[in-house]
Parts: sequence; structure tokens; C-alpha cells
Amino acid sequence: MNKKFLDLGYQPLANRYLKIFKKLSIKKGELYKLGVGFNTKTKLVSLIKKIPDKKMFDKNYPYRSSMSKTMINSFKKLSIKIKRKFKPKLFLEIGSNDGAFIQNFSKDKVVCVEPCSNLAKITKRKGYYTYDNYWNLNLAEKIKKKFNYVDVIYSSNTLTHINDLNGVFKSISLILNKNGVLIIEDPSFLECIKKGSYDQFYNEHIYVFSALAVKNIIKKYNLELFDIETLKTHGGSLRYYIKKKDNKNIKIKNSVINQLSKEIQFGLNNFRTYKKFSENVKKSKKSLIKILTKIKKDNHNIIGYGATAKASTVLNYCNIDNNIIDFFVDTTPDKINKFMPGKNIKILPYNKKLIDKYEYIYLGAWNFKDEIFKKENEFIRKGGKFITHVPKPKIL
Ligand code: TYD
Repeated sequence: MNKKFLDLGYQPLANRYLKIFKKLSIKKGELYKLGVGFNTKTKLVSLIKKIPDKKMFDKNYPYRSSMSKTMINSFKKLSIKIKRKFKPKLFLEIGSNDGAFIQNFSKDKVVCVEPCSNLAKITKRKGYYTYDNYWNLNLAEKIKKKFNYVDVIYSSNTLTHINDLNGVFKSISLILNKNGVLIIEDPSFLECIKKGSYDQFYNEHIYVFSALAVKNIIKKYNLELFDIETLKTHGGSLRYYIKKKDNKNIKIKNSVINQLSKEIQFGLNNFRTYKKFSENVKKSKKSLIKILTKIKKDNHNIIGYGATAKASTVLNYCNIDNNIIDFFVDTTPDKINKFMPGKNIKILPYNKKLIDKYEYIYLGAWNFKDEIFKKENEFIRKGGKFITHVPKPKIL
């Protein structure tokens, strides 16, 4: 049973950056109710209302994985490990985006899947065999027919964006070699709850995984966890290593039981924990608004840094508009000179000189804090301050 625990109000589609600002309407279906529920049986956390894939991932999808050095480095490290440990003859990436990960592999060993054709075009241009399709059983059958079984499948921040999770794992199980390995990484719900990062929820993040939930979902498809790594990326992620149950050549590492125990100890199998999280989210909203309005009252201007989908949840939940934040800066070409989803706040191209004119910056990309702080050391040295809501709203 899916029990609702969190209500983040009416929200626009994240990652929909309009060229001309207009007020969105609930009646016209431009805003949807963002509620989050907990499945007491599978322990899976998911959005109550799910937006159809085709409405979210299309030829104009703006998000580019290669915009962050942190991700590029993390992908490079993992690719070295995969080549050394698993030596795949055929490698499949589901959700290859602009090739930030796949570029570490040789072109003849790789199949990419990316439904956003603007992004698929990029990996095709680089010479990687790319299907611009959604990941589903049909596509898995097609790939199997052409390439036979796959040795390693990798998917980062993608499977949680697909509505039909059962279909996802059924398709993976169909195409994965009997000795093959599936590696997935996504934000960890345990980290999300610990950090109060309710902005992990937006229409694309249909699910936020815990190890408890992943274990339960994959078992139906003859799959099991054999290793889990904790990562700093995306505000704290888990990288799950999964094998076929009948493959006894791979030993199950202690990391699996350790993560499961941590989650149970924290109470992730108990609905009360989720209700408490929801109370904390309400407090976080109040406190962030208080901090921002005080800065404005004291006659200071605030700008935003990192026009993330996450920031879209925060702005719309806390009702923050251009009375509070003058504009956002971002490096992503497809976001520049557009507006934050649902809000009259423009996104300007990143420019160091522009930033240095301000004293306060709301950190939309809080998950890249280290990278951004390094880049903006001059701003900080001159007394500039960042504001975040993670783990608690505060001026840093
Ligand atoms: P991310 O946190 O991955 O996003 P989302 O919540 O949308 O999944 O996105 C980071 C955003 O921040 C992306 O739009 C690029 C931007 N960014 C900068 O503009 N400058 C930077 O130095 C970094 C690290 C990110």
C-alpha cells in the first residue's frame, strides 16, 4: 500500500525552462500536485502522481551530465574500475545523456540508450551506437536480437525516472548475460531524509531508492545485490552492484548487509520516520523564507547559483520569486536566458564578474557545493555569502 507522507504543493514540470515567463495554471494542467508516498510492502518511495515519460523526456531536454567536473571525475573513476574488474565485451548504458560516462569506453564495445533525441545526437556524433528510445521490453528485445547478451549494464540517475519499474528490471534481466553485472546509481533516500533535501522530489524523480526497496524490487526478476558503494554525488548517492541470483561466482559483500542495517536502524521500514521527515520539511520551508526575507529587509540583493530541477521544487514549494531572488546563473546552454520553472526568475549565463557584485547567493546546486566553493573562492574571500537549505536553512 502506497501511503502519502509529503505534500510539496502545486509544481510545474521541472527542467521546463520557458523563454517567456507566464503564470502557469492548475486548470490547464500546467501545474500538478507533488505528493510523495511510501509503499509499506516494498519500502519504495515514489511520487503519487506520475507524469507520462513522453511529457518529460523529449528532444528539448536541457540537462547535460557533462556540465560538472564532479560528475566527469566520478564517471572516469568508475569506468576504469569496470574495465579492470568486469572486462565487458559488450557494455550498455541506459540514459547515456551527452556521453559524459560513455566517452571513457571504446566505441566498438558499447550500446547507448537515450530517449532525448537532442542528447542522443551528441553520442551518435561521437561515434557511439545509440538508440534514441525509452528503455522498455521492446527495446531490450531489439538490442538482444542485434547484439545478443550484454555483460555490463550501467545506469546513473535514470531508472528512478522511469514509471514502469517492473518493466525496467524485467528488460534488464532479459538482456543481461548470466554472469553479467548491472550497476545503477541514484540519490539515496537515507541521505535525502538525513539532509532534509526534499528537493530530490520533482516530476522526473518518480522514485527515490533505498537499498531496502531495490532489494525487494529486483528479486522478482532473479536479480540480487552483491555490493553497494556510497557516493557523494547528487547530495549522497548509492551505487548498487547487481547480479543474477543463480550466478554463484560472485560473492555478496558485507556492504550490502551494512547498508540495509543502516537503513533499518534509521527507521526506513517504518512509516513514522516518513511522517517526521514531512514535519521537518515544513520547518525547513519556514526557516528558509525567514532567512531570505530578512536579507531582503536589510536591503541586500540575492541571486541564485545553479538553475537545478531541485531549485524548482524549492522555489515553488516556498513560493520564492523575483521579489526575493533577482536571477539565477547557470552554465547549461539550454537554460540560459530562460525562466526558472513556474517562477518569474531569469537564468543568466554564468559570469564571475557579475557574481562578485552580489553579497548573497542561494545555492540551487547545493550538491556541487565543494566544486562551486572552489570556483568562487574570490567571492567568498571578499565576504560573499552562500545560502542553503541543506541540511538546514542557513547562511554559510
Ligand atoms: P544538478 O544538481 O545535477 O541538477 P538537477 O537538480 O537539475 O538534477 O544540476 C546542476 C546544475 O548546476 C546544472 O544546471 C549546471 C549548474 N552548475 C553551474 O552552473 N555551475 C557549476 O559550477 C556547477 C557545478 C553546476
